[in-house]
Amino acid sequence: MSTTRSVLAEPLTLPCGVTVKNRFFKAPMHEALGTPDLAPSQNIVDLYGRWAAGGAGILVTGNVAVDSRHLGEPGNIVVEDETHLEMLRHWAQAGTAHGTQLWMQINHPGRQSPRSVNRRPVAPSEVPDDGGYGQFFEPPRELSREEIGDIVRRFVTTARVAKKAGFTGVQIHAAHGYLVSQFLSPVDNHRTDEYGGSLEGRMRFLVEVYQGMRETLGPDFPISVKLNSSDGEPGGMTQEDSLRVAARLSELGVDVLEVSGGTYRKPVFEETDSSAEDHRRGVYFADYARRLKELVSMPVALTGGFRSAADMEEAVAEGLTDLVGIGRPLALIPDLPQRILHGAGRRRIDLPHVSTGVKALDEALGGVLVIGWYEMQMRRLARGGYASAHGNGLAALAFTVRRHGLGALMPRRAARRG
Ligand SMILES: Cc1cc2nc3c(=O)[nH]c(=O)nc-3n(C[C@H](O)[C@H](O)[C@H](O)COP(=O)(O)O)c2cc1C
Repeated sequence: MSTTRSVLAEPLTLPCGVTVKNRFFKAPMHEALGTPDLAPSQNIVDLYGRWAAGGAGILVTGNVAVDSRHLGEPGNIVVEDETHLEMLRHWAQAGTAHGTQLWMQINHPGRQSPRSVNRRPVAPSEVPDDGGYGQFFEPPRELSREEIGDIVRRFVTTARVAKKAGFTGVQIHAAHGYLVSQFLSPVDNHRTDEYGGSLEGRMRFLVEVYQGMRETLGPDFPISVKLNSSDGEPGGMTQEDSLRVAARLSELGVDVLEVSGGTYRKPVFEETDSSAEDHRRGVYFADYARRLKELVSMPVALTGGFRSAADMEEAVAEGLTDLVGIGRPLALIPDLPQRILHGAGRRRIDLPHVSTGVKALDEALGGVLVIGWYEMQMRRLARGGYASAHGNGLAALAFTVRRHGLGALMPRRAARRG
């Protein structure tokens, strides 16, 4: 047992005045545990009970959709009104046990709404996803200004219902190529009205969503934003633009900026520790975080690549980040924070290599397979079991096909013919 107190055990007070009990920040991972009528299931309640007992200061939920016509993935939970308030209350109660902060991540997928659940996606402009996962998405149609106003109101409504149900914070998903991120990106946003053009125009949608939420939720309720450090693709949002957005969000009073990167054209899940930006420790986006911390005063949660207690402690101690964002390791070891705080979890975590054993299949499905595999592990945790130590890609493939249907995995033109 370690006797010195870890820097990760230090509480953190946010700009809104709320104090978080420690520096562990469970990053959002969509659980695919919504019911067929898009409500939270008992499984998700149990999963968050388990994570809350696991010791993290903040649990951010997987993305919750603001519109039932536009899901981010099958199994999404949607909050459009108070229909599912009772189950949301159960979820909030489980996830806030042990003094844990439970924040709902709120999202509209825009163009990145898979065609297994959406044949008519929308986007700031009619720019299709021509990247490696483009086959999963139909080309989008452009949103009207009235529709943009409606989506802003939907984000605010979802946040209001989350607060009413007992969630202790919310997060706006502005990363990974979903709708907010599409607005921010010059390659996806070709609008000529006030929501496009200059960076000021491209960030208007995000600013309106944030301001609408702040007005409704009040000054003492945590509101976080998850932002890409850059889109990591030609013509996408650059690091310089991202820093300018971050500075604006800090001025506006955002409580925690979670830093990530990539889009479905270039997903973060494909990052391996050896290809990460910061080779020293394998933590992704560390170079950006260093620049960001010089620029902004709001607390930062750096997510991606944290695999050992030593790296987490060093990152907080040297001021690279205030909170340690952890995704996949917490789907494998739900009580990792407890273990680290009690001196028992100091070994480096090696994520299993998820593979079907067929190289061409692995290459074609890449991140989709990895996501499916982690969804399976969260389902096992929800049912009281343990994550598998083996990255069985064939099982993940079968799971993904069951959820999306075989057609969704075929190239778009072939699927249209079929
Ligand atoms: C199965 C799965 C689902 C995810 N879903 C979301 C999501 O809903 N919202 C989000 O912002 N990030 C999502 N992510 C990304 C994670 O939050 C995180 O940024 C990424 O996994 C890198 O962190 P890690 O190296 O600690 O896993 C997901 C990741 C995985 C593996």
